[in-house]
Amino acid sequence: MSTKTNLIQGDVQKRIDTWIATYPADQRQSATMPALRIVQEANGGHLTTELMNEIADYLGVAPISVYEVATFYGNYNHQPVGKYQINWCNSVSCFLRGGEALREKMEQKLGVKSGEVTADGKFSIKKVECLGACGGAPMCKIDKTYYENLDETSLFRILDELE
Ligand code: FES
Repeated sequence: MSTKTNLIQGDVQKRIDTWIATYPADQRQSATMPALRIVQEANGGHLTTELMNEIADYLGVAPISVYEVATFYGNYNHQPVGKYQINWCNSVSCFLRGGEALREKMEQKLGVKSGEVTADGKFSIKKVECLGACGGAPMCKIDKTYYENLDETSLFRILDELE
Protein backbone atom coordinates (compact mmCIF):
# COMPACT_ATOMS: atom_id res chain seq x y z
CA MET A 1 0.00 0.00 0.00
CA SER A 2 1.38 3.46 -0.77
CA THR A 3 -1.29 5.81 0.49
CA LYS A 4 0.03 9.34 0.93
CA THR A 5 -0.73 11.00 4.21
CA ASN A 6 -0.40 14.48 5.56
CA LEU A 7 2.96 13.92 7.18
CA ILE A 8 4.31 11.00 5.21
CA GLN A 9 5.36 12.83 2.10
CA GLY A 10 8.47 14.48 0.70
CA ASP A 11 11.63 13.85 2.70
CA VAL A 12 9.80 11.91 5.42
CA GLN A 13 8.35 9.55 2.84
CA LYS A 14 11.73 9.13 1.14
CA ARG A 15 13.42 8.23 4.40
CA ILE A 16 10.74 5.68 5.28
CA ASP A 17 10.86 4.25 1.76
CA THR A 18 14.62 3.78 2.13
CA TRP A 19 13.96 1.57 5.14
CA ILE A 20 11.11 -0.28 3.45
CA ALA A 21 13.43 -1.08 0.55
CA THR A 22 15.79 -2.92 2.89
CA TYR A 23 13.14 -5.58 3.60
CA PRO A 24 11.41 -8.09 1.33
CA ALA A 25 8.44 -6.56 -0.51
CA ASP A 26 5.91 -8.49 1.56
CA GLN A 27 7.43 -7.35 4.86
CA ARG A 28 6.82 -3.63 4.93
CA GLN A 29 5.84 -3.93 8.59
CA SER A 30 9.51 -4.50 9.38
CA ALA A 31 10.00 -0.77 8.84
CA THR A 32 7.67 0.07 11.72
CA MET A 33 10.38 1.12 14.17
CA PRO A 34 12.33 3.38 11.80
CA ALA A 35 9.05 4.82 10.48
CA LEU A 36 7.98 5.68 14.02
CA ARG A 37 11.34 7.33 14.69
CA ILE A 38 11.27 9.34 11.46
CA VAL A 39 7.69 10.50 11.94
CA GLN A 40 8.33 11.34 15.59
CA GLU A 41 11.30 13.51 14.60
CA ALA A 42 9.27 15.21 11.87
CA ASN A 43 6.53 15.97 14.37
CA GLY A 44 8.82 17.74 16.82
CA GLY A 45 9.58 14.77 19.04
CA HIS A 46 6.32 13.01 19.78
CA LEU A 47 3.73 10.73 18.21
CA THR A 48 -0.05 10.96 18.11
CA THR A 49 -2.68 8.34 17.41
CA GLU A 50 -3.34 9.98 14.07
CA LEU A 51 0.32 9.72 13.11
CA MET A 52 0.52 6.08 14.18
CA ASN A 53 -2.57 5.44 12.07
CA GLU A 54 -0.86 7.13 9.12
CA ILE A 55 2.16 4.90 9.57
CA ALA A 56 -0.05 1.80 9.74
CA ASP A 57 -1.84 2.87 6.60
CA TYR A 58 1.41 3.56 4.79
CA LEU A 59 2.93 0.23 5.78
CA GLY A 60 -0.30 -1.65 5.11
CA VAL A 61 -0.60 -3.10 8.61
CA ALA A 62 -3.24 -2.98 11.31
CA PRO A 63 -2.97 0.13 13.52
CA ILE A 64 -2.75 -2.06 16.63
CA SER A 65 0.56 -3.51 15.46
CA VAL A 66 2.01 0.00 15.26
CA TYR A 67 0.55 0.98 18.65
CA GLU A 68 2.11 -2.12 20.21
CA VAL A 69 5.60 -1.20 19.04
CA ALA A 70 5.19 2.49 19.86
CA THR A 71 4.05 1.82 23.42
CA PHE A 72 6.44 -1.05 24.17
CA TYR A 73 9.70 0.80 23.54
CA GLY A 74 10.66 3.76 25.71
CA ASN A 75 12.17 5.80 22.90
CA TYR A 76 8.81 6.84 21.50
CA ASN A 77 7.05 9.80 23.06
CA HIS A 78 3.30 10.15 23.25
CA GLN A 79 3.25 13.64 24.67
CA PRO A 80 4.97 16.83 23.51
CA VAL A 81 8.62 17.08 24.53
CA GLY A 82 11.04 19.93 25.10
CA LYS A 83 14.01 20.94 22.97
CA TYR A 84 16.09 18.97 25.46
CA GLN A 85 14.55 15.67 26.53
CA ILE A 86 15.81 14.60 29.93
CA ASN A 87 15.50 10.82 30.21
CA TRP A 88 15.82 10.26 33.93
CA CYS A 89 16.80 6.76 34.99
CA ASN A 90 14.25 5.51 37.46
CA SER A 91 15.70 2.04 38.05
CA VAL A 92 17.16 0.50 41.15
CA SER A 93 20.86 1.47 41.09
CA CYS A 94 20.06 5.09 40.37
CA PHE A 95 17.25 5.03 42.90
CA LEU A 96 19.51 3.63 45.63
CA ARG A 97 22.12 6.29 44.94
CA GLY A 98 19.73 9.19 45.44
CA GLY A 99 18.28 9.50 41.96
CA GLU A 100 14.73 10.10 43.07
CA ALA A 101 15.57 12.95 45.45
CA LEU A 102 17.79 14.50 42.79
CA ARG A 103 15.03 14.26 40.21
CA GLU A 104 12.68 16.05 42.58
CA LYS A 105 15.22 18.86 43.00
CA MET A 106 15.52 19.09 39.23
CA GLU A 107 11.74 19.22 38.88
CA GLN A 108 11.66 22.09 41.38
CA LYS A 109 14.41 23.95 39.56
CA LEU A 110 12.70 23.59 36.19
CA GLY A 111 9.19 24.10 37.54
CA VAL A 112 7.77 20.95 35.96
CA LYS A 113 6.99 17.38 36.92
CA SER A 114 8.09 14.33 34.98
CA GLY A 115 6.02 14.05 31.81
CA GLU A 116 5.75 17.81 31.43
CA VAL A 117 7.48 20.46 29.31
CA THR A 118 8.85 23.71 30.72
CA ALA A 119 6.90 26.86 29.82
CA ASP A 120 9.68 28.00 27.49
CA GLY A 121 9.66 24.64 25.68
CA LYS A 122 13.31 23.97 26.47
CA PHE A 123 13.14 20.94 28.77
CA SER A 124 10.95 17.92 29.30
CA ILE A 125 11.50 15.12 31.80
CA LYS A 126 10.72 11.48 31.20
CA LYS A 127 11.25 8.72 33.73
CA VAL A 128 12.83 5.73 32.00
CA GLU A 129 14.06 2.29 32.92
CA CYS A 130 17.74 1.40 33.33
CA LEU A 131 19.90 3.00 30.65
CA GLY A 132 22.75 0.55 31.17
CA ALA A 133 25.06 2.96 32.95
CA CYS A 134 24.41 1.72 36.50
CA GLY A 135 28.09 2.18 37.45
CA GLY A 136 27.56 5.91 36.98
CA ALA A 137 24.37 6.11 39.03
CA PRO A 138 22.56 8.37 39.44
CA MET A 139 22.45 9.33 35.82
CA CYS A 140 20.30 10.65 33.02
CA LYS A 141 20.44 10.92 29.25
CA ILE A 142 19.74 14.25 27.61
CA ASP A 143 19.18 13.73 23.91
CA LYS A 144 22.08 11.40 23.04
CA THR A 145 24.48 12.31 25.86
CA TYR A 146 24.82 10.35 29.09
CA TYR A 147 25.47 12.33 32.28
CA GLU A 148 26.65 10.14 35.14
CA ASN A 149 27.54 10.37 38.85
CA LEU A 150 25.20 13.30 39.14
CA ASP A 151 24.73 15.43 42.21
CA GLU A 152 22.84 18.67 42.59
CA THR A 153 25.84 20.81 41.65
CA SER A 154 26.77 18.92 38.49
CA LEU A 155 23.18 18.46 37.36
CA PHE A 156 22.25 22.11 37.82
CA ARG A 157 25.42 23.18 36.01
CA ILE A 158 24.49 20.96 33.05
CA LEU A 159 20.99 22.40 32.94
CA ASP A 160 22.29 25.96 33.20
CA GLU A 161 24.71 25.34 30.33
CA LEU A 162 21.94 23.95 28.14
CA GLU A 163 19.79 26.93 29.00
S1 FES B 1 19.85 1.77 37.18
FE1 FES B 1 20.24 3.72 36.33
S2 FES B 1 21.51 3.27 34.63
FE2 FES B 1 21.02 1.32 35.43
